[in-house]
Amino acid sequence: MTPPLLSVAGLGVRLGPVALTRDITFDIASGERVGLIGESGCGKSITGLALLGLLPSGARREGRALFDGRDLPARDEAAWRRIRGRDIAMVFQEPMTALDPVFTVGEQIVETLRSHQRLSRRAAREQAVEMLDKVGIPAPMQRFSAYPHELSGGMRQRALIAIALCCAPRLLIADEPTTALDVTVQAQILDLLFDLAERNGTALLFISHDLGVVADLCTRILTMYAGEIVEDAPTEALLRRPRHPYSAGLMHAMPRLAPRKSRLAAIPGRVPQPGAMPQGCRFAPRCDFRTTACALPPPLAPARGHKARCARQGEIVLSGAI
Ligand SMILES: Nc1ncnc2c1ncn2[C@@H]1O[C@H](COP(=O)(O)OP(=O)(O)OP(=O)(O)O)[C@@H](O)[C@H]1O
Ligand code: SF4
Ligand SMILES: [Mg+2]
Repeated sequence: MTPPLLSVAGLGVRLGPVALTRDITFDIASGERVGLIGESGCGKSITGLALLGLLPSGARREGRALFDGRDLPARDEAAWRRIRGRDIAMVFQEPMTALDPVFTVGEQIVETLRSHQRLSRRAAREQAVEMLDKVGIPAPMQRFSAYPHELSGGMRQRALIAIALCCAPRLLIADEPTTALDVTVQAQILDLLFDLAERNGTALLFISHDLGVVADLCTRILTMYAGEIVEDAPTEALLRRPRHPYSAGLMHAMPRLAPRKSRLAAIPGRVPQPGAMPQGCRFAPRCDFRTTACALPPPLAPARGHKARCARQGEIVLSGAI
């Protein structure tokens, strides 16, 4: 059996005494498309940043992450610079903050290419123009010399995708890559991103609030709640029969995924904050199914072909979206 491309075990991020995330454990196979969903503040971005060695100052990573069988460094910035962009790349939510305003988009691609490959400036320039063309930027020769502020939001996000994919990374982490864009542009950019990734054989960790979009594009879905993974399932299995009440709640709150006849229902209550987590199951204060069995923190345990962090997953039956 080939080992997974990425294997994350017991990963957590601490900021001083506060655990922002804990016990994050999952694998991504080569070329696989995995979605990571959950409400705002649950720790999706922090998890992505930890996998790129880009944690905020003062934050500390716990646990392990293996890429292609090798440990991803905990700190070593020089080692991370060799990995970032070449092995693992990221597309962020806000292209304007991710692009450097003082360099043209072309120069930024050239820089990325030359930091990982021995290439003449001229060869890198040719590849950069080709990359701009691949991401659907019209007149790529001219756009090579454009500064980020001279491009529309959609074009900036395309430029960012060009930078992220120019070194053909094995894994791309895309963190809400289209939320800052017009709805009409969003679908085009996502199609482009998934299409290019597939052609390159790049695996994807796609971070989003939108279970509907993730279900369309990813073959497996990780559900995160209050700093933990609560469910890890193949998309179809999750939509058919979620095993964690929170995943079911997310489905029932989505117009496109809610079971027919049921009314749209937002999940009542609020997400607990890091530093003030419930003692047992973190979802218990919002869960219709809680009993005394939920007073101890449940592990992420196998649940018929997928995994769920629910003490009662064997007893309760949750309806899915299909
Ligand atoms: N730089 C930081 N300094 C301190 N706390 C942070 C920092 N970044 C994130 N956090 C905290 O870590 C937790 C997880 O945040 P994170 O940004 O990963 O959430 P998220 O799931 O990506 O949310 P969203 O959907 O809103 O992007 C939150 O409680 C947040 O307040
Ligand atoms: S462990 Fe209990 S409270 Fe937590 S999700 Fe399962 S049933 Fe609900
Ligand atoms: Mg985020």
